[in-house]
Amino acid sequence: MAELIVALDVDNLKKAEKFVDLLYPKVKIFKIGSQLFTLYGPKAVEMVKKKGAEVFLDLKFHDIPNTVAAASSSATTLGVFMFNLHAAGGLEMMQRAKEARGETAAKLGIKPPLLIAVTVLTSQGKNSKILSLVLNFTRRAKEAGLEGVVASAEETAAIRKEFGKGLIIVTPGIRPKGTVFGDQKRAATANEAVKAGSNFLVVGRPVLEAKNPL
Ligand code: C5P
Repeated sequence: MAELIVALDVDNLKKAEKFVDLLYPKVKIFKIGSQLFTLYGPKAVEMVKKKGAEVFLDLKFHDIPNTVAAASSSATTLGVFMFNLHAAGGLEMMQRAKEARGETAAKLGIKPPLLIAVTVLTSQGKNSKILSLVLNFTRRAKEAGLEGVVASAEETAAIRKEFGKGLIIVTPGIRPKGTVFGDQKRAATANEAVKAGSNFLVVGRPVLEAKNPL
């Protein structure tokens, strides 16, 4: 079974709060990305946590190792359940992020958040090189000691096959059958993603724009 994460991709905190009130506790994890975090920062995280839900902080860190290590320490301090960075930032960047997360969590006496590497964005179209790119990024993330990766449902089965059950796979680009894909090029249905072996499904617009989001 996979767990659902709803992306709070909205332009103000009140709207985000309405979605949390409506969906929690059916949905237990909410994703805060650059749209909400840029405007509201930690307030957005606090809002979700106050309701009793967990936060996936989706800021996709990608910078020099020192900067990403510091950002990882900040994300850990916020008490999120999961946060992410771009595998393209390289092995050293990922290792330093992991170290900083561990040190900060130990200092605060909290459970370290899951640290997940973005492989290739699901908005990038299909081509023959994507799978090997995704697998390479996944190998590097594993080498750095991260818990998992973000990948499309199309690559999930291959990742599962190579890396086994121990690796967490987070899958965005989920669309109900027969709907518009929008900017998501490598999309799949929830059923397909779960069958392929995904652990967490990230869903934004199909829930936020539904007549009845619940
Ligand atoms: O609206 P939609 O369901 O396409 O939203 C998917 C969410 O997942 C967005 O917030 C997007 O930023 C995020 N995401 C993604 N691809 C990744 C990582 C995160 O689509 N590789």
